[in-house]
Amino acid sequence: FGNKLTTTLHQSFTKTPPNTFQVNASFKVAILGAAGGIGQPLSLLTKMSPLVSDLHLYDIANVKGVAADLSHCNTPSKVLHFTGNDELPNCLKDIDVVVIPAGVPRKPGMTRDDLFNINANIVKTLVEAVADYSPNAFIHIISNPVNSTVPIAAEVLKQKGVYNPKKLFGVTTLDVVRANTFVAQKKNLKLIDVDVPVIGGHAGITILPLLSKTKPAVSFTDEEVEELTVRIQNAGTEVVEAKAGAGSATLSMAYAAARFLESSLRALDGDGDVYECSFVESEVTELPFFASRVKIGKDGIEAVVLKDFEGLTEFEKKGLEKLKGELKGSIEKGVDFANKEK
Ligand code: NAD
Ligand code: LMR
Repeated sequence: FGNKLTTTLHQSFTKTPPNTFQVNASFKVAILGAAGGIGQPLSLLTKMSPLVSDLHLYDIANVKGVAADLSHCNTPSKVLHFTGNDELPNCLKDIDVVVIPAGVPRKPGMTRDDLFNINANIVKTLVEAVADYSPNAFIHIISNPVNSTVPIAAEVLKQKGVYNPKKLFGVTTLDVVRANTFVAQKKNLKLIDVDVPVIGGHAGITILPLLSKTKPAVSFTDEEVEELTVRIQNAGTEVVEAKAGAGSATLSMAYAAARFLESSLRALDGDGDVYECSFVESEVTELPFFASRVKIGKDGIEAVVLKDFEGLTEFEKKGLEKLKGELKGSIEKGVDFANKEK
């Protein structure tokens, strides 16, 4: 049962065969914001992972019921619930991966940056606790604006003296998932075969799909490149508008976060062939953080895939130059916030 489930889950995310992937249910995962729109389906998908032995669900409210519900699924992990600040230390003890989807989502007419005032504080407080109680964990930041919340998390970890840039990840997997889906639809390709790297950041024009690097190799007209790029950049807004005030992407986001989590767990488990795009501390451009494809291993990021940056098209080069101003501003806003609030 375990092996079959692992293969199925894994292959729904990527066509790469599960290599050296061992099924040993030994990792402890904490989800902070587990009772929310993303948190609940992400908790379910995490409960389905045979690599997870302990699933700690934290929120400021309503998480007891989510845990009771999930705990009846006959998959290996033990589910525990934690409510409010006082229970955060126990929630985070001995955790291997902390996933943070806590925070408010957009409504129509808002940008991700409009969430800064509320979410910056939430991320800061939660990462302070991660630094104190789970300083060696991989940290996956989902809360928006990712372009600022990841730099906030880095500053908080630095202030606490436990920053390891190899273990801090901004989750941009949804951009890749969307790019793969939209390209497969447009070019009539088998979905599971398609892989498009997405670089930059996670807001508007900072989301830059590298369509020229699509696998399998496929050619696009200039119009197709323009149309697909704009659709991928605006896909979050597409969902926000369709939900008409009821929030932003939750189900596709939970799917994407579960893929990124499964990849991290495989890396921790010794799989030497784990590659994902993520918004991380980076030297590939002059900006201190940048999303690109990285190789993940037992100790976190092992390398950046530099060949994605070779032979970019003129369109991609222009997109890359254009996004830098906005991304720089968002990164600086996060860094300033974390240092002002010290
Ligand atoms: P939601 O409002 O449905 O859920 C958020 C949850 O966070 C709630 O259960 C709430 O109680 C909890 N929460 C609030 N403050 C908290 C705190 N201090 N500690 C712990 N939990 C707290 O929102 P959602 O739809 O799940 O979205 C969550 C965040 O994810 C938003 O910021 C959204 O913009 C972002 N998001 C990011 C991506 C991405 O690609 N990175 C995609 C979709 C959404
Ligand atoms: C997304 O890309 O769906 C998320 O960042 C949520 C949003 O606000 O668009």
